[in-house]
Amino acid sequence: MNELIKAIDKLKKEKNAVILAHYYTEGEIQDIADFVGDSLALAQWAAKTDADVIVMCGVHFMGETTKIICPNKKVLVPDMNAGCSLADSCPADKFAAFVSEHPDHTVISYVNTTAAVKAVTDVVVTSTNARQIVESFPADEKIIFGPDRNLGNYINSVTNRNMLLWDGACHVHEQFSVEKIVELKKNHPSALVLAHPECKNTVLALADVVGSTAALLKAAINSDQKEFIVATESGILHEMQKQCPEKTFIPAPPNDSTCACNECSFMRLNTLEKLYNCLNDETPEILVDKEVADKAIKSIKRMLDISAQLGL
Ligand code: 13P
Ligand code: SF4
Repeated sequence: MNELIKAIDKLKKEKNAVILAHYYTEGEIQDIADFVGDSLALAQWAAKTDADVIVMCGVHFMGETTKIICPNKKVLVPDMNAGCSLADSCPADKFAAFVSEHPDHTVISYVNTTAAVKAVTDVVVTSTNARQIVESFPADEKIIFGPDRNLGNYINSVTNRNMLLWDGACHVHEQFSVEKIVELKKNHPSALVLAHPECKNTVLALADVVGSTAALLKAAINSDQKEFIVATESGILHEMQKQCPEKTFIPAPPNDSTCACNECSFMRLNTLEKLYNCLNDETPEILVDKEVADKAIKSIKRMLDISAQLGL
């Protein structure tokens, strides 16, 4: 075993720490993690761990969500600069103003938001439970959905709702090329297209399966097909390939083939060296203002409770 991995393991035991990782992180981070999952599973896992220290290998909002769920634990992240373009597309002050312009609306926010946005939200959702949580409200409920316009449009279309959408998006998921996916399909006619709902509707229109990272992974495992074109951040291919070594996973190409735009540069800031340093030095640590956290926990807890009732 590599020396760094041994040292991380030793620190973990000494400090009663756990490492959580999102499917979009580098394979070596996923391989060393105690738990790898999508946003919902990471939040659910955080809610039940008895570790004293949690290292969240993901992005900043995942660290914040973990800290809000576990206020008495130390929550560390390997790199404080691991942000999220989607969360950044929804500044809390502007979102709060938008919410106060529509006082008769229920506010549903995607988990990819800051704690301050969650604090003005009635219920948080992830891509795993967004559809069911929206459907748990009466058909005529007035709803604000933020911040992802692509996910919001998708949920509007599958639930036949007309939620008011915040105009945000993820820079990775907006980049997939319809033309290149169509071209790939010509060369791989039996390949299933798996797409995350943060993709544009023109990409989703080509998809055989639309779902969260966990849902896409499950679809790949359960399918009889041998080839898949995957329209989401390419880190998920690590677990797909691990679970299905006999199948072929082709990352959907971005519009600009000279860039690695289907990689989330924020997720990729998580490295083994930074993971070691953060466990060793117990920094950077995620802290959330108590007043904000006390409000945000209500919308997060509501999501966890509804998800538990739905068996998600
Ligand atoms: P998941 O809900 O699939 O984890 O998606 C998180 C995310 O950041 C997508 O870009
Ligand atoms: Fe945010 Fe997009 Fe990265 Fe997901 S892939 S963490 S939405 S920037």
